[in-house]
Amino acid sequence: MKKIAIAIVTFGILIAGFMANRTPKSPDFSKLKLQLEKEFRGAYPKKIAPNGNLVELEMTAEEGEIEIFEGKKTKVWNYNKTVPGPEIRMKLGDTLKINFTNNLPQETTIHFHGVRVPNAMDGVPGVTQPPIEPGGRFVYEFTPKDAGTFWFHPHVRSAEQVERGLFGVLIVEEPESKYSRDEVWVIDDWRLISDAQIDPNFGTPMDLMHDGRWGNVITTNASLSEKLEVRPGTRLRLRFVNASNARVYKLDFGTLNAIAIAVDGMNVKKVFNAQNFELAPGNRLDVDVKIPRNSVEKSFPIRDIFTRRTNKLGEIVVAGEPIETPDFEPILNSKIPDWNEAKNYPIDKKYKLNARRNARGEIEWTINGKAFPEYDPFTLKFDEFNKLSFVNESSRLHPMHLHGQFFKVISRNGNPATENFFRDTVLVKPKETVEIATVPLDRGKWLNHCHILEHADAGMITITTVE
Ligand code: C2O
Ligand code: CU
Repeated sequence: MKKIAIAIVTFGILIAGFMANRTPKSPDFSKLKLQLEKEFRGAYPKKIAPNGNLVELEMTAEEGEIEIFEGKKTKVWNYNKTVPGPEIRMKLGDTLKINFTNNLPQETTIHFHGVRVPNAMDGVPGVTQPPIEPGGRFVYEFTPKDAGTFWFHPHVRSAEQVERGLFGVLIVEEPESKYSRDEVWVIDDWRLISDAQIDPNFGTPMDLMHDGRWGNVITTNASLSEKLEVRPGTRLRLRFVNASNARVYKLDFGTLNAIAIAVDGMNVKKVFNAQNFELAPGNRLDVDVKIPRNSVEKSFPIRDIFTRRTNKLGEIVVAGEPIETPDFEPILNSKIPDWNEAKNYPIDKKYKLNARRNARGEIEWTINGKAFPEYDPFTLKFDEFNKLSFVNESSRLHPMHLHGQFFKVISRNGNPATENFFRDTVLVKPKETVEIATVPLDRGKWLNHCHILEHADAGMITITTVE
């Protein structure tokens, strides 16, 4: 009798223990969340006070021609007759007003990539504005909240329109720059056919099945042999923009000492060596380069080493009389949170990235099993810490881009990330899981999509609402 009683009691204790293990008291993350939010405070502003200065320009998208190969005209689509389009420079606090006319044979819009604009100025057809009809006009007006390197491009049939040459750079300058030179290299690749014309087959099944459309010709500022001539002693700020539909560049600076000072427009917390930086579609990188006054080397080629075949992107040529090298520290953002504890915070939303064939046998790229315009809606909490995870279930590249917010990479495949900077686009590699965190300071309906434009056009877009 006694034995049985003991057995029953022991069994009871075991069950209780088991139950306790099964239903742990749900841990309370509110303290951690507050701490992470506190760390973020002041990293970038909620608002900007316009200084009253208006930068106004007329902009037209239309068909035109450029000369990539000497003596051969390549038909393109352009903004204000040039590829890249106009390089817009303004000061932080200025208001930009673009009176835009669409003279293309298709609808279009302009999206200002990386700029925290009012939602209605984000240029997403059917989400933030109706598409602009051929012959139609639209006024884009906003005051950027951050200084940095940004760019703009259409958000209608992007795989075709960007490939045809529609992109331009928007630089919001810090109050005063002390660099002796400040230059932009817009890198793009083109798929040209024999008569130097753009291959008009956009979004082919091959492109869709793989990493989008990779061109056979790479240009910097639409040139096959970009040469930037600088005097010895020059302190150069060089801003890289990847405007390619799909190609990733891994930067090789050779013997040049290139120091990264900003990523995706935003100043970094700590400078780092830019060698081997991977510039995925949409990404920007700003580097600080000091050309020695007594440099024996007169030419510094900069290359792409992402694939086994290296590509020369351009060259810095040293010539002329030496100048005094300006001596100053780059402007850094000491307020960027470390978020070391963010790894212990639960994921608010997981995005699984994959492909499938639809009923017609076409490839669709999906986020959580949905191809845009179908999507899995999610709301990010305004001014609060949010943690997202991209789970790449495919064996393809997906540079994931959030409109209207910056984020920080927390981990890759479970390993804590060491990036001392914000991004608006992160390359998620085959089968990789990347966790990111953001404190959104801009309300609205914002796209979250793959910046391989073929993937995006084939469905790899979702919407996150900030409220
Ligand atoms: Cu360059 Cu939707 O973005
Ligand atoms: Cu993709």
